[in-house]
Amino acid sequence: MEIVLVTEGGFCFGVRRAMKMAEELLAEHGGGVTLGPLIHNREAVSRLQEQGLRVAETVEDLKPGEVVMLRTHGTGPITTRELTERGVTLVDATCPFVARAQREAAQYHADGYQVLVLGEADHPEARGIAEHTGGAATIVEAPADLAGLELRKQVAVVCQTTQRLDALQALVHDLLPLVSELRVANTICDATTKRQEASLQVAREVDVMVVIGGKHSANTTRLAQICAETGTPTHHIETAAELEADWVQGAARIGVTAGASTPDWLISEVVARLGELGA
Ligand code: F3S
Repeated sequence: MEIVLVTEGGFCFGVRRAMKMAEELLAEHGGGVTLGPLIHNREAVSRLQEQGLRVAETVEDLKPGEVVMLRTHGTGPITTRELTERGVTLVDATCPFVARAQREAAQYHADGYQVLVLGEADHPEARGIAEHTGGAATIVEAPADLAGLELRKQVAVVCQTTQRLDALQALVHDLLPLVSELRVANTICDATTKRQEASLQVAREVDVMVVIGGKHSANTTRLAQICAETGTPTHHIETAAELEADWVQGAARIGVTAGASTPDWLISEVVARLGELGA
């Protein structure tokens, strides 16, 4: 039994940068806070908590004087103002690619366009991007959401960075006949696309696919979906302990990939466990 590891898997640039910033923050201040988990990976967050990082659920949980780290998926100016009014010090770990999507949305809005954010309505990144238009932008999850939307003549589209290119293409296809001017900022992250393409290719060539990452991680869930769509049995796990011997029985090749918020040590643990199961 052979393991085919997707080398593009695991921490992306933005997450690696945020983790490094968190470690530096802990070393310098002996503690710190994030509003919500720093990344969508319970094991990685637990390790940081053991080192003194606190996860606050709401702005009200923050105490004046605390050092608060903004997460990779960023936040909007309204939330940032609430935070500074709370008397905390901010350390901004917003991924530069997310920051670009925020800037594009703000610019289109300032230029008079109706801004649509292609993303998940309840995802903090999509909500943060929309906040950069003063809340004027509408988050659309799929072309079907256009029904019932009052569209102006000049429309601009910005994407949550983890969106799929085909989803953006479908939205543009349906929007074009409805507006007289359409601007599109393809703010889909390159790291996401590359990971998805590499995982898709491996998923097509193996008997079983294992996708490692948080169940709440949007990019890992999408990765698992893409792999499953090839017809190859796909298992989305958070840790090596979830691997079941049945899944790999009789398989000649097992593909392993991981979401952008999955640390290398978790991937190594899964590979080691697969070794124990005969790979
Ligand atoms: Fe940034 Fe792309 Fe990662 S947007 S956080 S580098 S997936």
